[in-house]
Amino acid sequence: MDVRGLRCVVTGAASGIGEEVARQLLAGGASVTALDLKAPAEPVDRFIECDLADPASIDRAVGELGSGWDVLCNVAGVPGTAPAGLVMKVNFLGLRHLTEQFFDRLNPGGAIVVVASMAGFGWPQRVDSIRDFLATDDFAAGLEWLDRNPIAGNAYNFSKEVATVYVMTMGLALAERQLRINAVSPGPVETPILTDFEATMGKENLDGVRDLVGRHATPADIAPAVVFLASRDAGWLNGVNIGADGGIGGAVVSGLIPAPEI
Ligand SMILES: NC(=O)c1ccc[n+]([C@@H]2O[C@H](COP(=O)([O-])OP(=O)(O)OC[C@H]3O[C@@H](n4cnc5c(N)ncnc54)[C@H](O)[C@@H]3O)[C@@H](O)[C@H]2O)c1
Repeated sequence: MDVRGLRCVVTGAASGIGEEVARQLLAGGASVTALDLKAPAEPVDRFIECDLADPASIDRAVGELGSGWDVLCNVAGVPGTAPAGLVMKVNFLGLRHLTEQFFDRLNPGGAIVVVASMAGFGWPQRVDSIRDFLATDDFAAGLEWLDRNPIAGNAYNFSKEVATVYVMTMGLALAERQLRINAVSPGPVETPILTDFEATMGKENLDGVRDLVGRHATPADIAPAVVFLASRDAGWLNGVNIGADGGIGGAVVSGLIPAPEI
């Protein structure tokens, strides 16, 4: 995967999947600036503290970043054990606030990657409501929409459904700017938040998923899909969501097996 010389920003690079994405980009000869609440333990070219739940913090970080970037990898996220408002802020509203400021800061040919989740597989059932939410102009308008339309069910799943549909709907608009946006949707991954997912989604449900595919993923299973979408080799992929789940997503969506109750 050709990422040599690409100037990349990676959110969530201090832990789990984002840390591994940063490591693999660096190993491929890209440079990596990390945006996170906490500093990465592994070396990166630059770290900028940023709270994705706070648009002012995002604006400060973006001000420090300047322009001339090639890649934005949106990996940071919080699990459903966090309050619903925080989940929506970090996993979608902050992600969108950051991403949209990159439209003018990415070089032609630039790539945006979003780490969504297999937990977003229910988006077709709510697509009208999701598109209504996506029609909000900015972070504050998104919060107002959520006040008027309380989430039925799990906020984490909704945040990932929204992220998935966002990517699919933005591909064409970004093609006009010679940019690409794509998503990777992992199934369960062995990272520090897996126990949070077990608490909110049910350990028995996640164990059932693990038993079907043989094991949970590791960050090293997921990062190559992210790096590929960021790379020059993925130049004709746009608005696509790649399931990185060992095969379970396809079996659920095609009706072969019942959807896990997560
Ligand atoms: N682990 C899984 O099973 C799994 C499955 C599917 C999708 N995902 C998604 O993968 C992404 C990475 O998760 P992970 O498993 O590596 O988790 P992780 O907890 O190991 O890493 C999350 C990173 O996001 C950062 N972060 C959290 N809140 C932030 C905020 N407000 N501002 C800036 N940074 C913040 C954390 O500091 C951390 O570095 C998330 O979007 C998650 O939803 C994870």
